[in-house]
Amino acid sequence: MAIATRTVQPHSKWVGRLLMIATIVAGIGLGAMGGALLGGSLPGSGGPGPLTPDNSPILAPAPSGSPAGSPTPEPTASPSPSPSPTASPTPTRVPTPVPTPARSPRPTVAPTPAPPPSGPPACRYDDVLTFHTDLASWRITLMDTVYMLPGSYAPGDLVDSSVAGLNGGYPIRSVILADLSAMVADARAAGAPLGVQSAYRSYSQQASTFQYWVNLVGYEQALRTSARAGHSEHQLGTTLDFKSAGGPPPWEYADWASTPAGAWMKANAWKYGFVMSYPAGAFAHTCYDYEPWHYRYVGRELAARIHASGLTPRQVLWALQ
Ligand code: DAL
Ligand code: ZN
Repeated sequence: MAIATRTVQPHSKWVGRLLMIATIVAGIGLGAMGGALLGGSLPGSGGPGPLTPDNSPILAPAPSGSPAGSPTPEPTASPSPSPSPTASPTPTRVPTPVPTPARSPRPTVAPTPAPPPSGPPACRYDDVLTFHTDLASWRITLMDTVYMLPGSYAPGDLVDSSVAGLNGGYPIRSVILADLSAMVADARAAGAPLGVQSAYRSYSQQASTFQYWVNLVGYEQALRTSARAGHSEHQLGTTLDFKSAGGPPPWEYADWASTPAGAWMKANAWKYGFVMSYPAGAFAHTCYDYEPWHYRYVGRELAARIHASGLTPRQVLWALQ
């Protein structure tokens, strides 16, 4: 599969960056304002959007065999009864498989414009190498339906999720370990114990994952809920899909954010450096459906900025490219 077919021209890219910096300083108070808290709600956020499954090659048989790293298979289409008194799993939310004709992994081929000063590109699908592809830039590496990592991007410091006090079998980058461990411990102490549903996924695992969802729900719906290979934040190794400890996949709840664990995460994750990448009602900005379980670690400082801005992580990260 072709990985990166185009890159933004250096000149226009830097012009875009300068414009973005000016916009951010003037508009949302990052940088020169020291990340001042501006408050406000997420644009376009008015409540939970349609719930659809996230990706987890661990959870269900992929079309071409069982993906690697699946120590604890968990239910998907036929979940066990709800472990939570506050929310009930809704197995029927797993859509009925629909035969889908094979299609190109690149649904759109379009020229890549320079970054507009007003914000990230409108939602579309492309394969453009993202701006920061070095492993040290994990805090700001922009991942969306346009910008992607190469297949060769694979963190070398992966450790098992059990080290952080979560259920084991899921690789995570060691750079997130301290804050993740603290968050897991505090959530448990608050009566909202967390589990992990999915963590690091390699480029090839993501390819299998995306194809699994294409086979299950069709290409167009899969695009809304699953990233194409190279486009998933899970490839960073700093992103986790959380769940309630011992519970079913979080997408089997009407809204996992209404469970004790999900609500605790929604209110507190940012304090530990984690941000919800795909909030409710923000499809126009995130290009993905609501995923209350999908959190990316960006470090405490940047997470606080994002939280204060009221913007989606993608919008804030765009300003930092
Ligand atoms: N479900 C998110 C978009 C992913 O596949 O990374
Ligand atoms: Zn996820």
